[in-house]
Amino acid sequence: MHGVGLKKMSKEIQFIRSVKGTRDLLPSETWLWQRVEDEARAVLSAYNFREIRTPILEQTALFARSVGEETDIVTKEMYTFADRDHESLTLRPEATASVVRAYIEHSLYNEGGIQKLYYIGPMFRRERPQKGRYRQFYQIGAEVLGSDHPTIDAEVIEMLMLFLARLELKNTALLLNSVGCSICRPEYLKVLRHALDGVKSNLCADCQRRAETNPLRVLDCKVEADQPIIAELSSILDHLGPECRQHFDRVTAELTERGIDYTITPRLVRGLDYYTKTTFEITSGALGAQNALLGGGRYDGLAEMIGGPPTPGIGFSIGEDRLVLAVGEAAQGKADAAQWAASPVTAYIIWMGDRTLAPARQLARELRRQGLRVEIGYEPTKLKKSMGVASRTGARFTVIIGEGELESGRYQVKDMTSGEQQEVEPAGLAGYLRSRLTAANQPVAFAIKGSDHG
Ligand code: HAM
Repeated sequence: MHGVGLKKMSKEIQFIRSVKGTRDLLPSETWLWQRVEDEARAVLSAYNFREIRTPILEQTALFARSVGEETDIVTKEMYTFADRDHESLTLRPEATASVVRAYIEHSLYNEGGIQKLYYIGPMFRRERPQKGRYRQFYQIGAEVLGSDHPTIDAEVIEMLMLFLARLELKNTALLLNSVGCSICRPEYLKVLRHALDGVKSNLCADCQRRAETNPLRVLDCKVEADQPIIAELSSILDHLGPECRQHFDRVTAELTERGIDYTITPRLVRGLDYYTKTTFEITSGALGAQNALLGGGRYDGLAEMIGGPPTPGIGFSIGEDRLVLAVGEAAQGKADAAQWAASPVTAYIIWMGDRTLAPARQLARELRRQGLRVEIGYEPTKLKKSMGVASRTGARFTVIIGEGELESGRYQVKDMTSGEQQEVEPAGLAGYLRSRLTAANQPVAFAIKGSDHG
């Protein structure tokens, strides 16, 4: 009958809480997530991306091979377990590898041309939780498969800029780099290894290990004391081969042409091994320590790494948790208004007396069939209390049905904003409410189709 209060919780049986690093997203937040996702879908569809949904569970080898055996993600952060038949499975820590797997598995290359795919969903990494960093987090990501043309790199970034602008997100910075390819990177790694040999003993324990196993990872070390040493290491941009150099120059020229500001950041090597050529991140000033709003780049060798045909690709993933944080901060003050605007109850139906219950239910059903968002009291309640409940739902109107209204065949409709009251016949109520909403430019739950009548 009533909600369970905290004080009623059992003293003997310990309450089972959510898992560390995971969160419940409550209705007071989900409206903003929906708004961000609607905007994302709109912008992605303008650039002709189509949605793909891949499983959350994948074979562990998929990530080990593509993200990289030596990366933090694979060595420390994956949720990996043996299935009942001993197969090693992993909760996806990212989705690019999954999208490329699906592209190969379903031979999407046979459809001809390039494939532009996007996804929205949860990812899992066992990181130390803090603001903007969770163990279950969400990404909005997109991948373009089948071309290595630098125009695509620039276009993908242009699309991101449009998306962030539509969310009115300010104070963002685009960081850009190239990490070379399978031809020029090994040359750079030789140089890097050589340089590290001389200074390695002064670096943190992790970097001493990385210097041996994956020297590129030294460049994104966050340990303060290592920074002056890392700053002295030579830049990958000085070791790009002619093809990678040309590609990078084309990308930067096209960004400039499109009026997009960027900062070249030679240390931006990203935490995943599959990247080739272009890499980028967008950071947000609205976020604290975890300020990377999104990351992406080109991965022309990834399909082959997982046993597929050569397929160049580029994409990005936006950290949706962080994006919502940043958008929420930007919308401070407007938040409440926007929340109600996103989910207003059109009409709260108040009935008084047993005889009025049946017509009240019938009215609720009819109004809902006509796409209006309707709430109704489920138990007999005094008028004053019902009005209180109605206003807490944010109802735009209340419809009052008492014995008198049944007699006259006209229900009382109260405008909760102006306080003004009007009598309306039940048959004309849906039309009346719809027209009032349209006049005030307020949304209905859904538009009526021809088949909704009768
Ligand atoms: P990533 O840089 O590992 O790239 O992740 C992209 C974004 O996901 C980050 O910039 C951040 O906003 C968000 N993120 C990552 N870890 C967490 C976490 N623990 N909690 C909250 N947010 C997080 C990728 O995942 C690549 N798949 C991007 C890509 C797509 N590259 C090419 N295509």
